[in-house]
Amino acid sequence: MTNTALLELAEQAMQYAYAPYSGFKVGAALVGKSGTVYTGCNVENASFGVTNCAERTALFKAVSEGEREFTRIAIVGGKDGVITDYCYPCGICRQALSEFTDIRFEVILKDGADNIISTTLNDLLPESFNL
Ligand code: THU
Repeated sequence: MTNTALLELAEQAMQYAYAPYSGFKVGAALVGKSGTVYTGCNVENASFGVTNCAERTALFKAVSEGEREFTRIAIVGGKDGVITDYCYPCGICRQALSEFTDIRFEVILKDGADNIISTTLNDLLPESFNL
């Protein structure tokens, strides 16, 4: 699957975002080593700290279905679901993804002008913690 197609899946997933408090909707599409794509959206809660980001929704769906190694993730997001800037993964999601990825794992982002960035989790979270 191309990065563009993966971004489209992320954008579709963003439509399901439950974000009544921030209004900021995020969608993610995570590719497993098996080739299966797992999508996710952010799910907010009246108790704000309970909120789950789109990336971790996708990751936890995947791991709970037996997939433990991943190659790429596409992420899009924006206020009211309108993409303007690149939506980089938050620190917690970077750490969560690092548990199940190696240094080649790609993070693919898109801005409102359809510019696409492909970076690596290793660049976004260097010297990451693990046991
Ligand atoms: N959010 C994500 O889904 N992923 C990120 O990497 C950053 C933030 C969500 C959480 C919350 O619902 C909203 O965006 C505003 O922080």
